[in-house]
Amino acid sequence: MSELALDALHHETRRFPPPEDLAREANATAETYAAAETDRLGFWEEQARALSWEAPWSQVLDWQRPFSKWFVGGRLNACVNAVDRHVENGAGEKVAFHWIGDGERERRDVTYADLQREVCKAANALTSLNVKAGDRVTIYMPMIPETVVTMLACARIGAPHNVVFCGFSSDSLRGRILDSDSRVVVTTDGQFRRGAPTPVKPAVDEALEACPDVRSVLVVRRTGDEVAWNDARDVWWHDVVDSASDQHEAAAFDAEHPLFMMYTSGTTAKPKGILHTTGGYLTHVSATHRLVFDLKPDRDIYWCAADIGWITGHSYIVYGPLINQATSLMYEGTPHPNDKARWWKLIQDHKVTILYTAPTTIRTLMKWGAEELEPYDLSSLRLLGSVGEPINPEAWMWYRDTVGGGRTPVVDTWWQTETGGIMITPLPGVTATKPGAAMTPFPGVSADVVDNDGKSVPDGGGGFLVLTEPWPGMLRGIWGDDERYKQTYWSRFEGVYFAGDGAKRDEDGDLWLLGRVDDVMNVSGHRISTTEVEHALVSHPSVAEAAVVGATDATTGQAIVAFVTPRGSVAEDESSGDEFVQSLRDHVAKQIGPIAKPRQVLVTPELPKTRSGKIMRRLLRDIAEHRELGDVTTLLDPTVTDAIRERMAGGSEKEE
Ligand code: WTA
Repeated sequence: MSELALDALHHETRRFPPPEDLAREANATAETYAAAETDRLGFWEEQARALSWEAPWSQVLDWQRPFSKWFVGGRLNACVNAVDRHVENGAGEKVAFHWIGDGERERRDVTYADLQREVCKAANALTSLNVKAGDRVTIYMPMIPETVVTMLACARIGAPHNVVFCGFSSDSLRGRILDSDSRVVVTTDGQFRRGAPTPVKPAVDEALEACPDVRSVLVVRRTGDEVAWNDARDVWWHDVVDSASDQHEAAAFDAEHPLFMMYTSGTTAKPKGILHTTGGYLTHVSATHRLVFDLKPDRDIYWCAADIGWITGHSYIVYGPLINQATSLMYEGTPHPNDKARWWKLIQDHKVTILYTAPTTIRTLMKWGAEELEPYDLSSLRLLGSVGEPINPEAWMWYRDTVGGGRTPVVDTWWQTETGGIMITPLPGVTATKPGAAMTPFPGVSADVVDNDGKSVPDGGGGFLVLTEPWPGMLRGIWGDDERYKQTYWSRFEGVYFAGDGAKRDEDGDLWLLGRVDDVMNVSGHRISTTEVEHALVSHPSVAEAAVVGATDATTGQAIVAFVTPRGSVAEDESSGDEFVQSLRDHVAKQIGPIAKPRQVLVTPELPKTRSGKIMRRLLRDIAEHRELGDVTTLLDPTVTDAIRERMAGGSEKEE
């Protein structure tokens, strides 16, 4: 966050108490905080009791720092909790998802009973493909109901799923298939994006060229486009799932049975497989979903506008809402300039009451203007949530006033892939909110802000966010790499979890999140590592060296800016052209995925380095953000920065 923005936060004095009608009937009250304060583990046990267990736990928490086990000895089935028990309780005809296609006319309502039938069939089909409890299944699918069905079917048979965001390249997909050692992949022929069919399966085919252990690929027909077919390996969903029995007996698994893994970027080039297990994770996501969004299953239409390929989709489109028997909107598309009012139409037509999205989307909608939403009736909205990156006070106020008509509380929720569920957030019926602040830890969660030496900072101070006690949804490790788990999260400060975020504690003791303090960028709410992009760039045959920084961007939060030095063999006129820059951007998209494409690539004969040879990233960030340069005396060759600046001034910025 820029210093200017930080300064604005210091002066933010607006307060918004909860609306009285919401507070009166709220799922969470001041008592909720008090209960957790008095008995933290008892509070979590209470939340766990909202699930259906086949066998009770004998111990709430077994904490062998930094490894935790929750609800030790308990047994349950995630899918039974998300689906079957609602059907048994007579809610089978209740809609779980109003699914809305990318195209104008496509829609499908999926009830809990539909889900149960589909999931049972898919579970039988996966079993017929020889998938057993403990086997990992990689899912590379767009936002369609079959994606949810596949995840739940995996959970039902105890096979941890590994969902890879469909926008990732075949290279990224391959890395995740190999690291998770998946033998089965589920995908689609293609997907619809902005009204047009685009292929999906070719990326799987390409990835599998180097994954000899994958024996089956289950393919959902989505676009109907022609796809290459490998008879020995590929099977159509409509052949094996549709014909499978819709009866399936679900076995219970240990509370610590792995439920899924989700790869996320860290500070090194290799993404980490974050591992989540069953009992604690489900407890955490269902409790936060019920209390933070004040979910009333009989009244609310809930819309989390994330993609299932990210943790937000796992926790707050799939597991949290289904466990709470919510009726959700699930939308295949994303906001786009050719149809600026689509979102508002969806909210009006479906009478959405709770909306959960990312600041980058809010800023985009804000840029398109209030006139886009004025023709629509958004009065059904009663609660708005934000996640993924710091939300600036202007966007927060616009969300509350213009989208929510000034009636709706805004809950700014801080959490991570690693935390599994929401950790720092207002509670809508209790907290008087401040524009831009995530406010306080969720009941039962313990957080602190510490200085460089790990000492708690006083009110009014800033530093690093840490989590000081284990929580049920916490990651159980990094897949196959305990050492890296300890190193990454538990070594920076003695005995506490280091989140990688900067934070400020204001005079009232409330928390403001300030963004990453490591080499992880946050672009449109997506985590991307600078090292990963640098690796992609230097794998281009014409690149000698690359440095990547995240620069503040008014819409996407941060934008990727790359500084690249070409190899000596590349002619000056070749490397100075737009074509070269475009080929580098395309190369990154091919290596990682379009989300990692740098907004800007600066080609420079040299990178600024210290005398000891370290690239001066802070300086590059200053250049990328057009700031006055501070002290450059440690720089090896100070004229380098002038040369880069000149190019920067002449360069063009790309947006897509
Ligand atoms: C950032 C997404 C400020 C933060 C759920 C964190 C936020 C990273 C917020 C995790 C928020 C998430 N305010 N920053 N409300 N929510 N972040 O793993 O930097 O994709 O470390 O999980 O997003 O990103 P991830």
